[in-house]
This record gives sequence, structure tokens and C-alpha cells, in this order.
Amino acid sequence: MLVRLDKWLSEKSSLTRSEAKDALKKGKVLVNGQTAKDPSLKLNTDSDEVILDGNKLIYEKNVYFVLNKPAGFVTSTSDSDGVNVMSLLKGEVTKNLFPVGRLDKDTEGLLLITDDGELAHRLLSPKKHVKKTYYVECQKSISDFDMDILRNGVDIGDDTPTKEAEVTRIDGKIINLSITEGRFHQVKRMLEAVDNKVVYLKRLSFGNLVLEDLGINPGEYRKLNSSEIDILKRS
Ligand code: URA
Repeated sequence: MLVRLDKWLSEKSSLTRSEAKDALKKGKVLVNGQTAKDPSLKLNTDSDEVILDGNKLIYEKNVYFVLNKPAGFVTSTSDSDGVNVMSLLKGEVTKNLFPVGRLDKDTEGLLLITDDGELAHRLLSPKKHVKKTYYVECQKSISDFDMDILRNGVDIGDDTPTKEAEVTRIDGKIINLSITEGRFHQVKRMLEAVDNKVVYLKRLSFGNLVLEDLGINPGEYRKLNSSEIDILKRS
């Protein structure tokens, strides 16, 4: 792919487009080992090398991070909402990144963060039925009868009941719940609808990505590799 040098710099570093132009003027940018000053220079993202202040800037069309979200962080890109999940991506250029869907502040587990709007839209579209599995600990024990209600779809006060879900018992008060929608506080509201209360919630998988396979502890994150991105895109 061909990309202008100022676009490369502003997308793959923390610089704005005008700061990028300034850095070029000041001779801070090397292209294939030579100082480059022309912001309109067209570069090949596969074969050209850009170095800013000694740091190589790799041009990938999109980036995909997976985070094991700890409790206490808001799923937002804005600081005004409290301590947000983006602050956990230390040292990354996060300006074009956003979390795909949201986990409540007290919810833990797998969160995808990317700059790929098209994929995010597809993964979140109710029509695509992408499965999300949660580990759900409740205040009271969950009867087989209630598990069936959750499975078949339950009225949580919206226009329509929830879609069919998969429910597996882990323990008296603990289930794994897989849903294909992403309604606001959906899991908590589903359990409230059967007169129970979620006391601990963790997302175990998102589409084809499984937290346990990703090797990230709470608070840790990493980039997906290309085969994991393929797996995700097949979700
Ligand atoms: N359902 C909820 O109620 N909360 C979450 O964070 C995710 C799903």
C-alpha cells in the first residue's frame, strides 16, 4: 500500500499531522536511512522504513490488542469517565484505538481494542450472532429451572426477550453463560430477571478468541498475531 509520509508519521506515532510536518522540517525523520523532509513523499508500507527520533514506526493497516481487563477500569477512550482501559496500554500509540463493545467497570476479562472500525462493527452487529461467554458468580444458587429460563430467552425489560443462550453449571451459584447479543448490562439484567444478582463477572471469550489461550494475566495486554487475527475475523 502507498501512504504519504506525514500520514505514516501521524498514524503510527503520537504526533499530530502538523507536529509530523514540524518533525520532518527539523530533520528528525529517516526514510530508508536518509533524512526526509517532504511530507507528501509516497511510501510503500511493505518495503520502506521510517524512523522517527531513532524509533522505527511499523505501518500496519490495523492493530488488534487483547486486554485482560481488571475490575476498576471504565471501558472508554475518554479520561472524563474515570480511569479508562486505554491507560493500561502503556507506551502504545492509542489515539486511533477504541474498545470493541464494553465491559462494566466491575467486569473483568477479555476485551478487544483495535482501530479496525469495519471489523468492530461486524463483531458487534446483532445480526452476526457473535458469541461471548461469561463466567458468572451469583449471590444465590441458580436452579435448573432458572437455567432453562436463561437458555430460552428472558424478559429484561426491553422490547423483546433475550435471544437463546447457552448455560452451563459450574457450581451451585456459578454458571458459564454464552450470549450472542450485547445489550446494556445484559448478563446482570438476565440474572436479575430470575431474581438473582451477579456478584462477579468475567468475560472468558469473544467470538473465536478465548482468554485462557491468550496467556495474558489481569491488567496485561498484547497484540494479536496474524493467525489470531484470522481466527478473530472468522468469528
Ligand atoms: N453483561 C453485563 O451485565 N456486564 C458486562 O460487563 C458484560 C455483559
